[in-house]
Amino acid sequence: MVNPDIKKNSNHIIEITGMTHEGLGVGRIDNFAIFVDGAIKGELVEIKIIKVSKNYAVGKLMRILKPSESRVNPSCPVFKRCGGCSLQHMDYKAQLNFKTELVRENMKRIGKLDDVIVHDTIGMENFMNYRNKALYPVAAVKGKTVAGFYAKRSHDIIEHDSCDIQDVISTRIKKIVHKFIVENGISAYHESTGEGTIRHIMTRIGFKTGEVMVVLVINADDLPMKVKKRLVEILTEEVLEVKSIYLNINKKITNTILGDTNKLIYGKEAISDFIGNLEFRISPLSFFQVNPVQTEVLYNKALEYAGLTGNETVFDLYCGIGTISLFLSQKAKKVYGVEVVEDAVRDAKENARINGINNVEFFAGKAEEVVPVIYAQGVRADVVAVDPPRKGCDQTLLDTLVEMQPERIVYVSCNPSTLARDLGYLSERGYKAHEAQPVDMFPQTHHVECVTLMSRVKD
Ligand SMILES: C[S@@+](CC[C@H](N)C(=O)[O-])C[C@H]1O[C@@H](n2cnc3c(N)ncnc32)[C@H](O)[C@@H]1O
Repeated sequence: MVNPDIKKNSNHIIEITGMTHEGLGVGRIDNFAIFVDGAIKGELVEIKIIKVSKNYAVGKLMRILKPSESRVNPSCPVFKRCGGCSLQHMDYKAQLNFKTELVRENMKRIGKLDDVIVHDTIGMENFMNYRNKALYPVAAVKGKTVAGFYAKRSHDIIEHDSCDIQDVISTRIKKIVHKFIVENGISAYHESTGEGTIRHIMTRIGFKTGEVMVVLVINADDLPMKVKKRLVEILTEEVLEVKSIYLNINKKITNTILGDTNKLIYGKEAISDFIGNLEFRISPLSFFQVNPVQTEVLYNKALEYAGLTGNETVFDLYCGIGTISLFLSQKAKKVYGVEVVEDAVRDAKENARINGINNVEFFAGKAEEVVPVIYAQGVRADVVAVDPPRKGCDQTLLDTLVEMQPERIVYVSCNPSTLARDLGYLSERGYKAHEAQPVDMFPQTHHVECVTLMSRVKD
């Protein structure tokens, strides 16, 4: 039963003894968990209870009585409200420790993997302005067109121009497009009614090439010709790096940001970037890691864990535009990549061509459907790399891998809990998880990327 003292609007002094995976502080009163946004493990804080439910309460941070040594002043003025960064109040070393602990804890609690070695998280030297992709929601709020960032756990938009983790070019483009929308009287999208035109402004930047793509997501089939022409003129005159401008058509009432149809209104179909010595073509819908500096660190680790000698057949599942496939192909006999987004597969094939790589083959489709088919046709992998979305691998796929028995599985993941779940599943079926290397792809946020090595236990 909830302690009767823990009621809405009551104040308490508690010690923060842990943190959630989203970076909220956790304290306890009579063993009853209280989540406190903005509090750091080790702190003594005064809170006001703002919500009580059956198993936990939520406290608002009122005063910090004993601050953590890792507490710093967040540089962003909207940090407390914005849903983007969640750890800006912790120094960078503490952020990295938080991520390492998160991976360790998930391995133990979810995967029941007590002996996997979790290395310290590899951080960045320059941990601000690292993102190569920005998405700014645009909306009509009380008759005014606003563009900015989603507030924490909501779709309310915080009006703010700059973002500490975005490339400064994205900030410039957002301001230009926002001003253009307002000055030309183009309506902004209204989530609740489904009316209005402009939904999102997206930018993608080639870190090494400097090329920029701008995508305007619209709730319409097109924009008037003169509007498109003027937008192109303004953007290309004011930001010389802009090499590609698209309209993305999304007329569905949905939280999914991008629609399926793209209309190129200026320049190149795709921009390009380099990871290591490999060049990649990036089109509007394709997945491309958002932190190019750390991507190279991550992929080099994946390559090391793959332990290739040049004789192996490799599967790269959930391969996106073939980035890991091409990295691995340099040391493998043959690589098969599988990816569900057809545009990404087209990019992957083009990327292989651009880089003069001939020992790769790509398949469009779901990994859990394609792999059983190619395996049944007699293609067996010695090494498998998987890099699924946050929900992790489909169980059918894991079962096919268990049947196929590759020597090594290199699992790249942006979600430690589904990673631990899948490693646990494979551990009970003839695989051993040896080591995990978290890589900080998302400084200032609670997200962490991790690459893990598993190998088949010999009979
Ligand atoms: C985390 S991304 C990794 C992409 C790539 N490995 C990289 O590093 O850029 C996950 C990819 O899985 C794709 N995907 C999602 N579900 C899939 C499925 N069932 N089968 C194959 N690919 C899938 C997504 O489209 C996305 O490109």
